Amino acid sequence: MTDRYAVIGNPVAHSRSPEIHAAFARECGADIEYGRLLAPVARFAETAEAFRAGGAAGANVTLPFKLEAFAFAHARTARAERGRSVNTLHFETNHVVGDNTDGVGLCRDIEQNIGQPLLGTRILLIGAGGAARAVVGALMDCQPELLAITNRTPAKAQAIVDEINVKNMLRAVGLTELPKLRFDVLINATSASLSASLPLVPLSSFDNNALAYDMMYGKGLTPFLALAAGTGARTADGIGMLVEQAAEAFYVWRGVRPSTGPVLDLLKQAAR
Ligand code: ATR
Repeated sequence: MTDRYAVIGNPVAHSRSPEIHAAFARECGADIEYGRLLAPVARFAETAEAFRAGGAAGANVTLPFKLEAFAFAHARTARAERGRSVNTLHFETNHVVGDNTDGVGLCRDIEQNIGQPLLGTRILLIGAGGAARAVVGALMDCQPELLAITNRTPAKAQAIVDEINVKNMLRAVGLTELPKLRFDVLINATSASLSASLPLVPLSSFDNNALAYDMMYGKGLTPFLALAAGTGARTADGIGMLVEQAAEAFYVWRGVRPSTGPVLDLLKQAAR
């Protein structure tokens, strides 16, 4: 019997997840169907419940529903609890498990695909919304020397740090302190790129040979990546994270880990 999955979002028409999962399924010989499901903004739970009741096996959840998906799940994995965000739902009999594969997807892309180790590095995470919150735990698991969080609204960065309360490694950094610090890896987790705008990061924050990573993806460089490229930094957009979080979701659902390289190459070619 074909197992059914979908990505639920609003908007969702642009999502690349169906083609990514179709490629994984071909590679693994899995009999699945993976579609897109547009949920009205105020009706995530009804949409997800109808999909589940119709016999679906699971779903991915994208903007703006990751908090709603967290509330919808009956049980949650530790990594979903840490970020208070769910991007993967696993429908078991009478039971919905919420997971989050974004953080591990980001770290695998940086460490394995890009080849930038995170152990012992100085990381700047820019942004303190849902996207940033979802990846903080996984970044800490990679044991950087420092994980600094900066945000346009500083209190939100401080709130994440207070909540997680890991001394030394994790710190909120305000705009007056930022120019005094240099980082090996700078990650844009703000939604600024959506409006073609730039989060405030001084040029002096980019260390020699730094990696600038934008969790957004699309054609060409985002304003953040263009700024970074001007300092000589290496740049990467979030397409690799998208593929890696999908592979982890596929593993959660099916217990098989697909290879990500071929799909990533295809998507990168299409974006050129
Ligand atoms: P998401 O789920 O994508 O993280 P969000 O929870 O609304 O969405 O958070 C958006 C993040 O992008 C926030 O950190 C926001 O900063 P504020 O907390 O100050 O609002 C940040 N952001 C959005 N537009 C920005 C811009 N033009 N410059 C800098 N930061 C921006």
